[in-house]
Amino acid sequence: MKKSILITGGAGFIGSHVVRLFVNKFPDYRIINLDCLTYAGNLENLKDLEDKDNYVFSKVDINEEKLLEKVFNDYQITDVIHLAAESHVDRSISDPLAFVKTNVMGTVNLLNTARNFWKDLNNHLFYHVSTDEVYGSLDNGGYFTETTPYDPQSPYSASKASSDHFVRAYANTYGMKTVISNCSNNYGPNQFPEKLIPLCIHNIKERKPLPVYGKGENVRDWLYVEDHARAIDEVFHKGLPGQTYNIGGFNEWKNIAIVELLCQIMDRKLGRAEGESAKLITFVKDRAGHDLRYAIDAQKINKELGWEPSLTFEVGIEKTVDWYLENESWLKGVTSGDYLHYYEAHYS
Ligand code: NAD
Ligand code: DAU
Repeated sequence: MKKSILITGGAGFIGSHVVRLFVNKFPDYRIINLDCLTYAGNLENLKDLEDKDNYVFSKVDINEEKLLEKVFNDYQITDVIHLAAESHVDRSISDPLAFVKTNVMGTVNLLNTARNFWKDLNNHLFYHVSTDEVYGSLDNGGYFTETTPYDPQSPYSASKASSDHFVRAYANTYGMKTVISNCSNNYGPNQFPEKLIPLCIHNIKERKPLPVYGKGENVRDWLYVEDHARAIDEVFHKGLPGQTYNIGGFNEWKNIAIVELLCQIMDRKLGRAEGESAKLITFVKDRAGHDLRYAIDAQKINKELGWEPSLTFEVGIEKTVDWYLENESWLKGVTSGDYLHYYEAHYS
């Protein structure tokens, strides 16, 4: 094997697309998907890879030091792509400590394990996958660049900012080879239906209310998840050590406009009368400390690594709706059990 890459959080939304891309594109790499399978982790996302010779799954929490050490030893890990995290802003508002434990302490634990295991730090890469939310909110226009000062506003973004700082500190203090990318909002198959787009697709299908926070005027920049996975491939192979790369879709939308678009698409696909699903739109109490606007300037990765999104939003969103409609059993599986408790506690 040319490389033995540990991908953490590979059973989650973005991680599953990264694992699939690497397993299929690089048969001479061994890919170890390490994930403790929280509510957001789902091995159904990777069923097609189960028989691949270069794919291994390991159910481990990134806070379990001894088990992590064993994985590094057993598979002689050469590089890390770290995606495991608590990822939902609303959950971070109700339970910030869970975010500190996984996103901050888990990341430091992983950094320590890698540092102790790798004898020559120059030969190995620790790639940390992060978010544009670390930069705060763009209330007065402009774009986030790689030099925008950090200004996290939610417990989630504070925990991700902290983990980014630890990764940079390990590069500076111990000479670890690291790279960080900060991406905007992803959408596409396998996303847990607590996030805006899959939640609305699910609720439109079930004729349930579509909860729009505040007036729906907050703006997000959306990127199709497979395009993010392609960007991670580029950064992993061509990114310069110590650098940060912003990844975005050049695709800003107000939340209300996205929800209305989903209603139109779903009316057409489900054979409903025009305007029927839009009646489900319900304006609810705003998210506490809700960031107004995120927008990524992704020129650096475009110019230096040649990456750009391959799909327009119009194509990506149709593909996404089709995937959820075609994968009814996936959606049923993840919305049974605990999902209902979370949903009712959050929205009632
Ligand atoms: P997700 O919530 O869908 O998946 C997270 C995965 O991490 C799950 O499989 C979960 O089981 C696993 N995990 C959580 N805690 C763990 C622990 N302690 N030990 C081992 N595994 C654990 O998240 P996502 O949306 O796929 O995000 C992946 C990464 O990308 C995160 O680091 C997130 O901050 C970042 N990110 C996400 C977005 C987005 O729009 N979703 C955008 C930019 C960056
Ligand atoms: O920007 C990158 C980030 O995008 C990632 O780092 C996070 O992991 C990811 O969860 C996402 O965060 P957001 O908070 O932007 O995503 P979410 O889908 O939760 O919300 C998108 C927007 O829609 C946001 O302005 C809040 C709003 N919203 C969300 C939900 C769940 C609603 O209006 N109603 C809802 O029910």
